Amino acid sequence: MENFEFHNPTRVLFGKGTTDRVGEVCAGFGKRVLLVYGGGSIKQTGLYDRIQQNLTQHNLEVFELPGIKPNPTLSKVREGVRLCKEKNIEVVLAVGGGSVLDSAKIIAAGACYEGDPWDFFIDKSKIPGRIPLVTVLTLAATGSEMNHNAVITNEATKEKLGLGHPALFPDVSILDPENTFTVPKDHTVYGIVDMMAHVFEQYFHKTPETPLQDRLAESIMKTIIEYTPRVLENPKDYDARATIMWCGTLALNHLLEAGVEGDWSSHDIEHELSAFYDIPHGAGLAIIFPQWMMYVLDEIPGKFAQFAERVWGIPRANQSDEELGRAGIERTRQWFREIGAPTTLREVGIGEELLETMAEKATKRGPLGSVKKLKKEDVLAILRMCL
Ligand code: NZQ
Ligand code: ZN
Repeated sequence: MENFEFHNPTRVLFGKGTTDRVGEVCAGFGKRVLLVYGGGSIKQTGLYDRIQQNLTQHNLEVFELPGIKPNPTLSKVREGVRLCKEKNIEVVLAVGGGSVLDSAKIIAAGACYEGDPWDFFIDKSKIPGRIPLVTVLTLAATGSEMNHNAVITNEATKEKLGLGHPALFPDVSILDPENTFTVPKDHTVYGIVDMMAHVFEQYFHKTPETPLQDRLAESIMKTIIEYTPRVLENPKDYDARATIMWCGTLALNHLLEAGVEGDWSSHDIEHELSAFYDIPHGAGLAIIFPQWMMYVLDEIPGKFAQFAERVWGIPRANQSDEELGRAGIERTRQWFREIGAPTTLREVGIGEELLETMAEKATKRGPLGSVKKLKKEDVLAILRMCL
């Protein structure tokens, strides 16, 4: 196990009815609130009205930044920063999925910064801190609600970059599973793939002797596999939605990475796909991950065999680690297909045209990952396997 520092300052309010604490929570930080949200799902579901009423009851003055889109853009973040400065915003309130939360994080930091918020993605030490940030999560997927990451797309340069900084943990996140009842099937599936992928990134590594980290990761993966059919069959199954929601948070709140060196190359490759083709992040991951696994299987065959046995329950019989590992990877790909995720680039309308450009861009800052250091040729080979 490696040395680590663990500190997670986000206060989580989890469960039925917690949405109605939003006014009380925001009022604890200030009076002038910027409500950041997406393309309108919160208006259709009634959540917008419920939150507005609650904020009004607490005498808060509410300003709005609607229209954050999936794969959120820098221009919208800049608009939010301008609003914060013009209106002297004291609290940023994000209501939505990862795209809304990530935008709100950079807006809250940008509000304390003189320059352009894209500077943070070039040099994160420029983040000066931020104004208070509260979130109401409506989609279980990214873990943004309890982590220090944000991912934004610069639409002018087609760069989708992520960063992690201690100032980006939300102060408070409200996780009310009932707010996820209305997530359509496709986005429920993409969210599930994303949380599974977060566990993979921190489970497949070369750090020796990590028995607790392994078992924590395995229990999250097994729980996701067990509860996915329930949320797909009955989107209003409270306990299933609650379980999946908490899995998503724990999959990426820095607990699993404590003491291990994660990989993250599949995420880096996916960010190129969603930057160039604007596909949902989870869809890209379902395509890339099984192929990445095949590509690096020979680096850590024992770990892939453990995954096959413990997570998928595949008996060892007389198989070698590699054979067993391959069976586990095949099972993973088949599961992605069963739950309705794409597993080839062609299914999402991507051909060979830009593979080389994406491989080049992905490795511009150096090789990716840690299980196997991936150079441009490796990334290109993986992308070709995905066709
Ligand atoms: O925009 P609206 O109308 O709200 O609709 C959204 C959006 O179209 C809809 N939705 C959300 N909650 C809903 C709902 N529809 C009905 N009912 C609800 N309750 O779902 C769609 C997708 O939303 P989005 O926020 O884009 O999804 P997700 O949470 O998967 O976030 C994806 C973004 O997060 C980044 C991804 O790269 C991508 O940009 N990531 C952020 C990470 C982090 N901060 O730690 C890590 C991840 O690996 C990831 O890279
Ligand atoms: Zn992800």
